[in-house]
Order: sequence, then structure tokens, then C-alpha cells
Amino acid sequence: MKKSEAKIRIDKLKKEINHHRYLYHVLDRQEISEAALDSLKDELFKLEDQFPEFVTADSPTQRVAGEPSSQFSKVKHSQRMLSLNDAFSSEDVFGWLERLKRVDPNAAYDFFAETKMDGLALSLVYLNGVLETGATRGNGEVGEDVTVNVRTIESVPLQLASEGLSKQVARIEVRGEVYLSKTDFNKINLEREKAGEPAYMNPRNTAAGTLRQLDPKLVAARNLRFMAYALPTNLGQETHAEEHQLLKELGFATDPLAVTCQKVDEVFDFFEATGKQRDNLDYQIDGIVVQVNSTALFQRLGVVGKAPRAAIAMKFPAEQATSIVEDIQIQVGRTGVLTPVAHLRPVRVAGTIVQRATLHNVDEIKRLGLKIGDTVIVEKAGDIIPDIVEVMVNLRTGKERPFKMPKTCPVCAEPTSRQDGEVAFYCTNNDCLAKQREQFYHFVSKKGLDVDGLGPRIIDQLMDADLITTPADLFKLTKEDVLPLEGFAELAAENLIESLNKARVVPLARFIFALGIRHVGEQTALDLAKQFGSVEKLQQATPEQIETIHDLGPAAASSLTKYFSDAARQKYFNELIAQLQIQKPQQGASNKLNGKSYLFTGTLASMTRDDAKALVRDNGGQVLSAVSKNLDYLVTGDAPGSKVEKAMHLGVKILTEKEFLGML
Ligand code: IVH
Repeated sequence: MKKSEAKIRIDKLKKEINHHRYLYHVLDRQEISEAALDSLKDELFKLEDQFPEFVTADSPTQRVAGEPSSQFSKVKHSQRMLSLNDAFSSEDVFGWLERLKRVDPNAAYDFFAETKMDGLALSLVYLNGVLETGATRGNGEVGEDVTVNVRTIESVPLQLASEGLSKQVARIEVRGEVYLSKTDFNKINLEREKAGEPAYMNPRNTAAGTLRQLDPKLVAARNLRFMAYALPTNLGQETHAEEHQLLKELGFATDPLAVTCQKVDEVFDFFEATGKQRDNLDYQIDGIVVQVNSTALFQRLGVVGKAPRAAIAMKFPAEQATSIVEDIQIQVGRTGVLTPVAHLRPVRVAGTIVQRATLHNVDEIKRLGLKIGDTVIVEKAGDIIPDIVEVMVNLRTGKERPFKMPKTCPVCAEPTSRQDGEVAFYCTNNDCLAKQREQFYHFVSKKGLDVDGLGPRIIDQLMDADLITTPADLFKLTKEDVLPLEGFAELAAENLIESLNKARVVPLARFIFALGIRHVGEQTALDLAKQFGSVEKLQQATPEQIETIHDLGPAAASSLTKYFSDAARQKYFNELIAQLQIQKPQQGASNKLNGKSYLFTGTLASMTRDDAKALVRDNGGQVLSAVSKNLDYLVTGDAPGSKVEKAMHLGVKILTEKEFLGML
């Protein structure tokens, strides 16, 4: 990479990482998986290593994450609360050992290895053996004083157990991880479900949110737990193993699995064994923490940036889950390659819902031995589309069906072919993809379905991420699908899904025009809508019937019948109309209220409410049944109800009856 390119990339990475770190550590919100964020950090780390001149003090590699939130008073940590560098492979671990050797070539290393809990760090300060302060990490230097909440955590002793030790040293600091057990987390979500509240994402976020609740009573009900992993105060410990022993004597829970390792091989063994145990533990762990056991050596090795040189976090590979392949469908990519995509029973992997997995090509399906209906292991490694890594053949029922590559392109129905020596099948129709892209642009455009905020740029993104192949796919998109795309924060994703939902209601004429059928322009679409009155009737129309329409020639007629008789298209077309509410044209109708939604409240002076609703529909508008963000206008008659207040609150425009009539 050229220096100038590296600079641009580094700047972009910093901005993006900072954005996600802020969401995660300050707001306790998550838009991309940790695996994805980790790999961004990894790339930045490596680039900065290569071009050290671009390392700045504000780089995410140079600081501990998060700013303290303003709700709690601040606590300055007596010693900075550090972070750990991550290792994702054995090479990373060996690289770390090399760096240790460079600093201290003669030192004899043994290691202490323990699980890395996926909760949040907490610092506890005891004065004369009594709990004085509990503080979050915050930005590492200054955290939040959450003592009132910490007091509710049963596993935090309010008084240290060993009187001898606490008499010896007046101020003792203990650090560790606050977490929610999996059992408690599931219980909370079950209760929320019953109460009709949305489920929480994961235990870590829930624990973080809970610890920063302003009402300690709510915190107490949640049953947070604490496990200690460090004793920054010198109580005579010479190794980290002794430190754990002391923590136990002081009355803290420590990692029951932790071990001392004489050789690095033992560290790898522990890593593997812990990984296997992972699902049996009642708390989430995301790796192990390995550190130089000797306290003196640990200190001598010092701090690099935000992390102690003597410790490293070995992370488990990306999270996996199992699901069922309900179907395998073909997506046509930008270059014409046909990619089989597994449609999965939705499953939560690493905090996001996964419904599709790429299968790459037929050879990959063969290699996996995958059939439709199989139970599979899905792995998400920070990618938009996750992978299927294994088929669980033992779970077969006998009803599984083998997959066959179709002989024709599912979009344009032209033959597909595979060139000698190539794994990929291609659509042979040169026009197919360009057409498809253009059709999407047309389909969502102002004169088409008029999907607010959805233009060519986003269509490209959705197509490139293989999220959409036919227009029907647009209406199956979920917030989770679009969140990983560049530029999609929570709100943007919500807005897009909302716009799509709004666009579902479409007058017949605009729908026909949106299809982009050759020779069918805006006026023809209007004429067709008027003549046939419904999609079904138009689908069944013969060329002769179509030609009876004034001004409509044989070219349009044959183009239309060809369009509707195409077998490959039929499937997605039916899927598409099932997603939409296509409005029949009304006699004497206008398009004056096109795309706008209305709701009436109170007694109208000049007509009944039903008449008013019909008027809206006749003129292309939509009638909603409740005030929501989706509503464009609330029309008020005499003695309107509580809807007005709600509409004002949501910023919905309020009209008088006269103003409404003025729109027509
Ligand atoms: S030792 C130098 N040990 O991982 C920092 N940390 O990035 C001292 N964590 O926020 C960390 N389990 O809260 C250590 N057994 C463990 C841990 C652990 C989880 C967290 C810690 C910190 C993060 C380090």
C-alpha cells in the first residue's frame, strides 16, 4: 500500500473504530459484531506498525475505550485501568513472546492463564477492610462511581474477609469483572417477553446497562456477579498465582479454571480445553488471558500504549450457532456468477440474527455434503454473510433434498453455463445484470414505488452484499440485514426498513410502471390499471385484450404477455405481489394524495369518517389506524381525542378538516 493510501485508510479506520467503540463502551450499544470490530482494530494496528509516522495520540490503538457517562460522579483511578492486546492466532502469541524476549532476553518465563470473562471491568477500593468505592473503567483514567449499585452485588464483599491483611494495608484495591450469568440473562429475557418488551441483546450489554442504572433497587433485582482477577495493591504477592490466592483469602470469587503454565504449550492446551468447556460455563467468556506470572517481571516489562506488555488476550474464534437450511437459492452477482445462498432458520450468532449464509459455489456444497433441510453449524467471522462450516449429518431425518444448480438463470431465465476448469456457473445473458441493476433503480424511484431514501447507491450496496436479487427481496430485508453495511447506523437502518414498509402500499398504475416492462411507460401503466383493475387480471390478459386499449400497439402487448408468461419470473413476481398492498384504481380517482397517510380524529363537519377515509383512498392516499411515526397527517374534527397529543409528540402534521379538503 502506498503511503498516501495508508494515511487515508488509517484515518477512515480510526473514525469508524472510534464510532463503534463509543457506541459499545459509552452507550452500551452494538452495531457491528465484536469480531468485525476486532478485525478493524487489527488492520489499524498493523497499518500503524507499518507506517509509525501516522500514529497519533488519539488513535484507538493508543487509548483505553470509552468516556465516562455523565450520570454518575467521576472517580480517578489510582492506577490507570489498562486493556489487553488481542491474539487471534498462534502466530500472534509467538509474536508476543518474541517481543517479551526482546525486552528481557534472560528472564525465565512462566505464565498464568485464566478465562477472559465477557462482562465489564470494575475497580473496588476498600479502606480499612470496608468497601469504599466501586468504579467502572470509564476511559481508564477516570471512571464512574457506581458504589450504590455495586453494594447490591452479593459476590462483592462489603468487608474484606481477611482481617490480618486489611489491618496490614489501609487501602486495598481489587479489580475484576462484573457479569450476568447465562441463566439470569435468559430469565430476564423471558420476563421481558411475557411483558411484551423487546429482548436484550446479550449478557454483557445487559450487565453494563444494569450497573449504570440510576436506581439500585433495579440493580439488586438483576443479580449481577463479580469475579476478581487482579490485586493492584501490593500485599506481598510475587506471582499472579499468589495474587489469585490472596483474592480468594480476601473473600472474592476468582476463576476456578485458572492455571499456572511452565511452558507455552500448556497455555495452548489451556486455551483449547477452555474453548471446549465454554458452553458448559454459566457465564460468557470470549477467550483467555495469559500473563507473565512473576509480578516483578510483569512490572519490569512495562506498558505499551494502552496495554501491559506482559499480558495478552487470546480470543476464541468467531462465534458459531446451529441452524437449519430451509432452502438454497441462487443469487446473481455483479460479474454474472451464480452463487448458491443458504436460507437459514433465523438464528442469533454473536449478537446478530443470521438468516443467510453464502455457499460460494457448487463445489463447496459438494465438499460440505450439504442438502436442503440439513442442520448446519454457522460461523460468523465479522463478515456480512456468514459461512456454513459443517453439516450435522447425524441430525438428518431422511427428508433432506439434494441441491441442483439450475440450468437457467433465476432472474432472466437465460441458460447458465460453466466454463472448463472453472467452479462457477455464469448467466450467459450479457444484459442480465445491468438490466437487473437498472430495474432496481427504476423500481424504487420516485415514479415507481417511491421508496424514500433508497437510491442507486444503497441498491448497489444491497446487491453487492447479496441481500437482494429480485424486487421481492427488498421487502424481506430486516434491520439486522442492513446494519453491517457501510454508512448504516441504527437510525439509518430503521429508516430504510420504515420507508420500505411505507412503499408496500402502492397504486396499481405505479406498480405496473415500476416493473420496468419494455414499452410500458407511465401513461400506458395508468391505462392498463384502469382497463384491468388488478394485477391478476392483467397477468391473465391476452395480447388481443391488451390491444383493445386505445393507443396501445402490438409491441407493448407482446412485451407484456411475454413478461407475465416467463416461468422463472413468475415465482418472484408472485412473491413480490404477496409483499405489497396494491391499490385498485377508483372511478374518478386522482393521485393527489399519493403516498401520503392520513388518520382522522374527532367529528368531521362535512362528512362521516368512513367517507373521509374513502376519499383518501380514492385519491391515492393511505389510511392508518393509529398515530405513529409513519403517519403523515392527523386530520382533526370537533372534540378530537388523545391522538392529537401523541401526534404533536411525534411531530406528525396536524390538519383541520378544511385544510384536508384543500389538498384535494
Ligand atoms: S486482566 C491489563 N483478566 O478484559 C488489564 N482481564 O481488555 C487487566 N477481562 O476490560 C486485565 N477477564 O475487564 C484480565 N481474567 C481476566 C479478565 C479480564 C475479563 C477484561 C477486563 C478488561 C479486558 C481487557
